[in-house]
Amino acid sequence: MRIPSDVEIRALHMKYAPTRAAFDLVFTHCEIVREIADQLLARASGLDADLVRAGCLLHDIGVYRLYGPDGRFDGADYIRHGVLGHEILAAEGFTEELCRFCSCHTGMGITRADVERQGLPLPLADYVAQTDEEELVMYADKFHSKTTPPTFVSGPTFLTHVRRFGEDKVTEFARLTEKFGTPDLTPVVTAHGHTLT
Ligand SMILES: [Fe+2]
Repeated sequence: MRIPSDVEIRALHMKYAPTRAAFDLVFTHCEIVREIADQLLARASGLDADLVRAGCLLHDIGVYRLYGPDGRFDGADYIRHGVLGHEILAAEGFTEELCRFCSCHTGMGITRADVERQGLPLPLADYVAQTDEEELVMYADKFHSKTTPPTFVSGPTFLTHVRRFGEDKVTEFARLTEKFGTPDLTPVVTAHGHTLT
């Protein structure tokens, strides 16, 4: 599998971003997730660092599909951004291994049972990180949010959000915290100036 370079991925974001503001929001978030994953990678072993880098930079490309023709963001179907990103990358000829970073990073993973129980607007399937690289991208993503304005999210704050989706999500976050450790958000907060919640 050929893994795209940072320059190629940035160009892909430019291609799909409907506005400069959308690009700045989404691509900066992806870079921040990469920086957090880099920190966690330094403590892990056996992961493909280049694959993690590309996964971080690509994971949210489907968000651009949620902007209307007027350039405004429509968050109603936000849950679909993962599968939309998977579709974009597949259409661009990317391998399934890369496409899955999009469809399998949302929340703490979306199971077939979640889709049914919550009536989610997704094809009935499991959207769950499986490889170490997919797990790390999903986990690192939880520490920054594309809110207005964007914020960094501490582990305890994320847990208060995710608990309403089920205790299994809390358990999964705890498992990944044990596996990858808790990132020190101080350097990324300082570098990007977004508030830590
Ligand atoms: Fe993300």
